[in-house]
Amino acid sequence: MRPMPTADGDAILMARGRCAHQAKKRRGAVARADIVDVEPDYLPDRLRATSAASDRAPDAIAVLDFGSQYTQLIARRVRESHVYCELFLWDTPPEEVLRMEPRGIILSGGPGSVYASGAPQLPDYVLARRVPVLGICYGMQLLAHHLGGQVTPAAEREYGAAEIELTAPNNPLLERFPRHLDVWMSHGDRIEALPPGFKVLARSANSPVAAMGDPARGLYGLQFHPEVAHTGQGGELLRRFAVEVCGCRPNWTPAAFIGQAVTAIRAQVGEDQVVCGLSGGVDSAVAATLVHRAVGEGLTCIFVNTGLLRQGEPEQVMRTFQEELGMRLVAVDATEEFLDALEAVTDPERKRRIIGERFVRVFEREARKLGHVPFLAQGTLYPDVIESRRPEQRAAARIKTHHNVGGLPKDMQFELVEPLCYLFKDETRAVGQALGLPDEIVWRQPFPGPGLAVRIIGDVTWKRLQTLRAADAILLEELGTRDLLREATQQAFAVLLPVRSVGVMGDKRTYQDVVAIRAVTTEDFMTADWARLDYEVLARVSNRIVNEVPEVNRVVYDITSKPPATIEWE
Ligand code: XMP
Repeated sequence: MRPMPTADGDAILMARGRCAHQAKKRRGAVARADIVDVEPDYLPDRLRATSAASDRAPDAIAVLDFGSQYTQLIARRVRESHVYCELFLWDTPPEEVLRMEPRGIILSGGPGSVYASGAPQLPDYVLARRVPVLGICYGMQLLAHHLGGQVTPAAEREYGAAEIELTAPNNPLLERFPRHLDVWMSHGDRIEALPPGFKVLARSANSPVAAMGDPARGLYGLQFHPEVAHTGQGGELLRRFAVEVCGCRPNWTPAAFIGQAVTAIRAQVGEDQVVCGLSGGVDSAVAATLVHRAVGEGLTCIFVNTGLLRQGEPEQVMRTFQEELGMRLVAVDATEEFLDALEAVTDPERKRRIIGERFVRVFEREARKLGHVPFLAQGTLYPDVIESRRPEQRAAARIKTHHNVGGLPKDMQFELVEPLCYLFKDETRAVGQALGLPDEIVWRQPFPGPGLAVRIIGDVTWKRLQTLRAADAILLEELGTRDLLREATQQAFAVLLPVRSVGVMGDKRTYQDVVAIRAVTTEDFMTADWARLDYEVLARVSNRIVNEVPEVNRVVYDITSKPPATIEWE
């Protein structure tokens, strides 16, 4: 018998409900007609009606997105101080934003000028709400423009690192900071005349108003970007805004999230069955574990072994989820099916398409065997949700088709359960840790849905898969034992090339395969640099691969950044 939902889950409960709802629209999946949508979204009155409930509802900040490329970073930085924060496009209907009862509002930067025709404007509710407001760059100019100040084009665009001097640090946002701060600027317009009630709080060589504020009303503007890493004190500044200025309690923690998410899942799913595709990656693992906590035997995980996974991976998934976590798990070995479908296919996009389609088919077949299962749990993360809101920014040029193994079979009628859809990757990992998932899963580096098929350039055969698996396992073992798989490189793997080269081993000529090692450093996988791994480590990896993998006689290191290369070779 599953426990009934309680009030403490409501904040997340609604968030989840809304997210699943958006996802349904996004993916074009057909929702059941009688979906019990968890409404209304933030139930603010009920949540704050009793002290017990309000202790648990996360205090929240809303970020209005005016088109800056850094908007996601604002939310991440705020959440790093354990304050819940959500992003909204600037023209989101007010009731949707206000439903979360924000204790403060942050206005992001944006590419335009407040005077340009059609420029995004400040929605009326922002000031009418009488909560603190922090405008960043374009957001600051909007505040100034709207409150009677004057914004003009600067003689020169100011872009890059700058130093600001705090001129009036006597306010909760800036007090106790050093007098000079390193910041990151990126703006064309600047504030020429302050709005009434405001003071200059900081200046830089090029910006007479690098920060402004009206502390009595809790209104602040920053010409620089506190959210980017180059602004060394930026995280602390955003924390001060959320905690000191807005009075948010830092109650957005993994433990609180888990309790709320579990309650939300129970409320959404009731006594029905849920199915979840496990890939071995951290997102689906955390989503499945949360659902399992919520509904126990009501969850069945399906693990499709495509034959394209890394060494030991299928065994590890079974061990962790079936034996250690006691989940009901259906494991399907579909290796032959995938290899047959990939026979003689060398084009990378065709490989991806074939694998994506085949996966859906296998998953669907297995799910149907379970009988009536109305819910599908997925590890969709917040960045996917944010990006899907901005179709104009989505993949202007499609570089690769990213098939997410575990993706939704298009013609199956599932209601989605997406417990992570408001979490960033680092938060997902923190939740995974708090749930007691093993480090190998929590800290697993990303692995592409099409698996090793896109790391074997050319034909994918069982023999070549085994060669690559052996080389890759050596690389990961050498890096793992030296603890180089978190900070030194965020993704490292071996690639099997379709060339053979001449070598000499034990006085004998060899003519064998070449393996390339790829290891990158990256924050977001959108851009990346090649990792400056220690030569001694590279030497050891190379030596072991040519000695232990008979098919390989040469190892090369990929020293290309992204762009121009991508991280994967196909
Ligand atoms: P690229 O190669 O585009 O990769 O620089 C960026 C990140 O995405 C991963 N990747 C994939 N992930 N399905 C996935 O789920 C895919 O088809 C796929 N292709 C690439 C890649 O490993 C890197 O982390």
